Amino acid sequence: MPISFTSLDAVGHDRESLIDFMTRNEFPFHGKPQPAREDIENAISEGAYQDEDHQSFWIDHDEIGRVGFFRLEDLSEPTPVFDLRLDGTFRGKGLGMEILQAATRHVFTSMPQVDRFEGQTREDNIAMRRTFLKCGWVKEAHYREGWPVDGGTPLASVAYAILRRDWETGRTTTFVWEDLVL
Ligand SMILES: CC(C)(COP(=O)(O)OP(=O)(O)OC[C@H]1O[C@@H](n2cnc3c(N)ncnc32)[C@H](O)[C@@H]1OP(=O)(O)O)[C@@H](O)C(=O)NCCC(=O)NCCS
Repeated sequence: MPISFTSLDAVGHDRESLIDFMTRNEFPFHGKPQPAREDIENAISEGAYQDEDHQSFWIDHDEIGRVGFFRLEDLSEPTPVFDLRLDGTFRGKGLGMEILQAATRHVFTSMPQVDRFEGQTREDNIAMRRTFLKCGWVKEAHYREGWPVDGGTPLASVAYAILRRDWETGRTTTFVWEDLVL
């Protein structure tokens, strides 16, 4: 697997590189598409990158080097969620799938107590949604108008998850959406 995750020290030696990464890239499907330096500094101070609930990593590729940022969130809950952001230069080149597979492996191999791993994205983030599906994640929720958009109409937030047992067997199990109808 050409992908590895390098621990990121957001309050120490990686602070400036993290601020640089977050402020020079655009994140069109996030609440703040162009975060300002101050936003990231505040988030660092609040522990949003590194505390009992958060761990942050650089994503490194064996051949092409550092390609992005990955953060685990809700680590004190039974089900962690993630934030994945590739550097603009490396988007749309087919890296998403092997990165999400590596991230899933990281969670299930290093956190024996975790049996579910979740992610959410905006309904129009097709690259992320396709990546979830290609990795065998299952859509579990579609929160209509659940994602506020600055100056625009709210969009849906779509939630996906993978179970440890599906990861172990390589078989995606699902469920009946309309299990109760009138
Ligand atoms: C979302 C993200 C991780 C996906 O990784 P990626 O390497 O860029 O995705 P890929 O190049 O593998 O594309 C995945 C699929 O989406 C398609 N796709 C990519 N960009 C697309 C776009 N703008 N519109 C429609 N389809 C798109 C690709 O063709 C590919 O299709 P396939 O399933 O037929 O192969 C990456 O684009 C990213 O970091 N984006 C910015 C941050 C972000 O939105 N993160 C997700 C937050 S949860």
